[in-house]
Amino acid sequence: MAAYYSDEIVSEVLQANDIVDIVSGYVRLKRTGSSLMGCCPFHREKTPSFHVSADKQLYHCFGCGAGGGVIQFIMNAEGLDFPDALRFLADRAGIRLPENDGSRDEEKYKRKHKMYEMNKDAARYFRECLLSPEGKVAQEYLTKRQLDGKTIAAFGLGWAPGGWDGLLKNLRDKGYDRSLLVDAGLCIMNDKGHVYDRFRERVMFPIFDVRGNITGFTGRILSGDAAKYMNSPESMVFDKGKNLYGLNLAKKSTRGYYILVEGNMDVISLHQAGINAAVAACGTAFTRDQAKLLSKSPVYLCFDSDGAGQKALERAAEIFKEFETPLKVIEMPDVKDPDDFIKKYGAEAFETLIKKAKTLTEHRMDMLLRGIDLNDTAQKIEMLGKASKLFSGISNAVEREVYVTRLSAKTGISPDAINSEIRKTNAKNVRKEVSADLRKAVGVGTEVRKQNKRRQVAEAGFLAMLSESSKVYTQFADKFGEDSFSEEIHRQIFNHICTYYKEEKQGTCQEYLMGAMPGHEREISTVLMSVQNVSDTIRAAQDFAQAIENEIFNEKLQKAQAEGNLQLISELLKSRKQNG
Ligand code: UTP
Ligand code: MN
Repeated sequence: MAAYYSDEIVSEVLQANDIVDIVSGYVRLKRTGSSLMGCCPFHREKTPSFHVSADKQLYHCFGCGAGGGVIQFIMNAEGLDFPDALRFLADRAGIRLPENDGSRDEEKYKRKHKMYEMNKDAARYFRECLLSPEGKVAQEYLTKRQLDGKTIAAFGLGWAPGGWDGLLKNLRDKGYDRSLLVDAGLCIMNDKGHVYDRFRERVMFPIFDVRGNITGFTGRILSGDAAKYMNSPESMVFDKGKNLYGLNLAKKSTRGYYILVEGNMDVISLHQAGINAAVAACGTAFTRDQAKLLSKSPVYLCFDSDGAGQKALERAAEIFKEFETPLKVIEMPDVKDPDDFIKKYGAEAFETLIKKAKTLTEHRMDMLLRGIDLNDTAQKIEMLGKASKLFSGISNAVEREVYVTRLSAKTGISPDAINSEIRKTNAKNVRKEVSADLRKAVGVGTEVRKQNKRRQVAEAGFLAMLSESSKVYTQFADKFGEDSFSEEIHRQIFNHICTYYKEEKQGTCQEYLMGAMPGHEREISTVLMSVQNVSDTIRAAQDFAQAIENEIFNEKLQKAQAEGNLQLISELLKSRKQNG
């Protein structure tokens, strides 16, 4: 998507957003010497291996390999795609970004913008209604649900009064046209072309996106048989499967994890109780996009304790698998949902639930045991079959042992019997594993691997120096070629850097590389950040170049030795002597 925006625009946004400023908003960076380091926000670690370079405007984590420029950082940190990340940074710097260079999209952008404005005005109207005498019923309802004024304001709650055109009139007076009202889903147009308010006599919950725009609404009835919650339909700005209720606030939580619940009322209730990491799927089945938004932090699943809730939990767990998100399960005793729990037992008790949260396996095991009569042999055997399937998926032997012991303690089945059952389940998978082992065995040996690693390091170091100074380019341009690099990605980076110097491209070398190799930001940062704060770039480049030559020499020599090519061996050794 990089080509979507002109290079000038991207470059303008980059210049207005210093990577150190941006990253500092997410990571506590410490200066050691001239480099900045902190704990990586993209994987869990205790000792900092996350580096940020002000010179290069790059970040790189030596722990998990995450890396790139400021745009990639925002893409990862905020879970945005490239255009949205660019927009995020542009907004922050007050740069007006066209939707793209075409005029149709310019119009679309304007309309979207207008819709956000209008939604904000709608929320204002609903809030005024709530605070006015006609909103008294709703005020009473919210009080009954124990929400205080501060919470009501923080979530922007309001009241859509009865009548058919309260909002319509209000927004028309503010200059919004009918078609926009209908497109945004705030109003409905019937077959006769008559337009009227969609939400009537409902408590209104604005839905915010991560950037704080109101994208849609959900409205709850106070009583009656109609659907309990009514949601805005999809619109230009509202795609409920791509957003989570409360995420705009939960993102700011310092807890370092999210709590995924089912209802918006649960989110509000938890936030009011100071548990500000709660989010909910906006009345949809949990989606992959939503999982992606949360996937960088551990997630606590806290679903309703009924059957539907448990089914939803398993579904969510399945979706999270792809992202390898660490999951925990918060189990609530004898209440329907987190909101009820807080009301009944209070915030402290919920904090205890968080501390006592179970691993997914533990939770699943307990669910298998729920409602089972252990005196009934048939039930017991069936349960054991399911449990062994569950445990056989655990590759860590110690961890597996823990669960076996626990199950044994709970059921009286001996650990031996459980283990034997697991072995039976495993036997079915054995064939797959054997072939994987075989592949490993015939793979490269450790010495070769070490050597490859040395060469990789030298290549990356050389490229880092090359990107920093045109003098390195002048000195090595004719000595180095594609053959000097063992890795395809290094070859590509080398070629692009050469083009950058040869054709005197605009901007910094890093910027040029990012633009020239879209999708490879991670690799680029890995290479360019591999050496930092070198005082003598030329000297370092020479050292790396020498190291590469040595490795190439060693490889040739080894090959000649393996082939028993004595003549080649002696030539190689002679050439080495000559070259010093
Ligand atoms: P719940 O019925 O559990 O709602 O539905 P809740 O949040 O506990 O609501 P209260 O406490 O009765 O006010 C969970 C979520 O499913 C969506 C809503 O997003 C709700 O928060 N939902 C539910 C709908 O979209 N429509 C409905 O009719 C019901
Ligand atoms: Mn509820």
